[in-house]
Amino acid sequence: MRIDRRTSATVATAALVGLALAACSGGGSGDGGTGDGGASGGGDEVEVFTWWAAGSEKAGLDALVGVFNEQHPDVEFINGAVAGGAGSAAKDLLQSRLQAQDPPDTFQAHAGAELQDYIDAAQIEDVSSLYDEFGLTDVFPADLVDRLKSDDGAIYSIPSNIHRANVVWANPTVLEANGIDPAATYDDLDAWMADLDKLKAAGVTPLSVATTWTQVHLLETVLLADLGAEAYNGLWDGSTDWSGAEVTSALEDFEKLMSYTNTDRDGLDWPEATQMVIDGNAAFNVMGDWAVAAFEEQGKTLGTDFTAAPVPGTDGVFDFLADSFTLPVGAPHPDGAKAWLETVGSLEGQVAFNKAKGSIPARTDADPSEFSEYQQTAIESFGQDTIVSSLAHGAAAPVATLNAISDATSKFTSGGSDLATFQSELVTATEG
Ligand code: GAL
Repeated sequence: MRIDRRTSATVATAALVGLALAACSGGGSGDGGTGDGGASGGGDEVEVFTWWAAGSEKAGLDALVGVFNEQHPDVEFINGAVAGGAGSAAKDLLQSRLQAQDPPDTFQAHAGAELQDYIDAAQIEDVSSLYDEFGLTDVFPADLVDRLKSDDGAIYSIPSNIHRANVVWANPTVLEANGIDPAATYDDLDAWMADLDKLKAAGVTPLSVATTWTQVHLLETVLLADLGAEAYNGLWDGSTDWSGAEVTSALEDFEKLMSYTNTDRDGLDWPEATQMVIDGNAAFNVMGDWAVAAFEEQGKTLGTDFTAAPVPGTDGVFDFLADSFTLPVGAPHPDGAKAWLETVGSLEGQVAFNKAKGSIPARTDADPSEFSEYQQTAIESFGQDTIVSSLAHGAAAPVATLNAISDATSKFTSGGSDLATFQSELVTATEG
């Protein structure tokens, strides 16, 4: 795996934001990185905070809970899930709870800049010792573990999975009915938009999208398609100019792509947008590969009922994100949390969870043949593609930056700003 880790500017920014947060909250009362995994006690239950509240995401969580109940029958699982894709509601609520010194026993956090926020704010414990205790030291890709570490090398979470963000899902029946070859591949966004025009002219919704975070998700794949992996990475380390002509032209493509989308988008979350493709009410949907679990859960077959491909212009690039679980400072049931973390890191837990979730195991020792055809392609791509970090899912930028980009995007797509204003707000959002 090759994850470009040119994030020094971002990390420095995150450190400043984190210090500010710690100052506001009075700081954490953690063990300051001794690596002993925090306090002990509270082994009778564990409150697990995620945003996997419904549908195929809940099915993934349920599969993990099934293994947890087998491995730790004496620890009661308390479901602290908060609905809203990509943590759109959960992350704010979590932040309030952390500020109020009322943390859950463990929470879901993305590897990369998002986790760094929690580390810098001293809100989570160093769990390095659990890597030794559970035998995890060599089971994850080194570049992934780097994204779970503080500068002094302490590790702050245990990864559960790896998702790919730059996937376009399609309904082949809708495409064929409109004279489009479902096996067609597109070299770039222009080639794709020529077919989106045909669908639009035929009165079909060419591309489904949902609320703001899914629009930001689409935006990141457009930036990746138009700028390429290297310049896309440069957006996060300061080496690509957000005010430059390349970005302007990508934003023009984003604006055009949004013109192909359903007008009721702002009231929907990702499951409804993907469902439009499943039901034949839209031709394409750009969504992370948690979507495959929604297709499969409804008995749909890859190749016949749906297709999956890299977003046009991003072939050979794997836009990466990973979920992981933490041990918050002051967790009321640290032993319960450690039991959960053990299951998350275990081979059995990772296989059961990822089979249901659509992601691939973070562990490198799972047998690919246990996974679906789509997941096997993801495993292969992850092994050979150029890896870049997802914006919408916490890998590329701190939460504050993502929030500012989301606000600017929502304003633009709802008609509240023109393209030049949008671009200047993105410049401000990423200045740190
Ligand atoms: C991502 C998360 C995925 C999936 C998705 C949609 O941020 O990493 O596991 O849940 O949101 O909610």
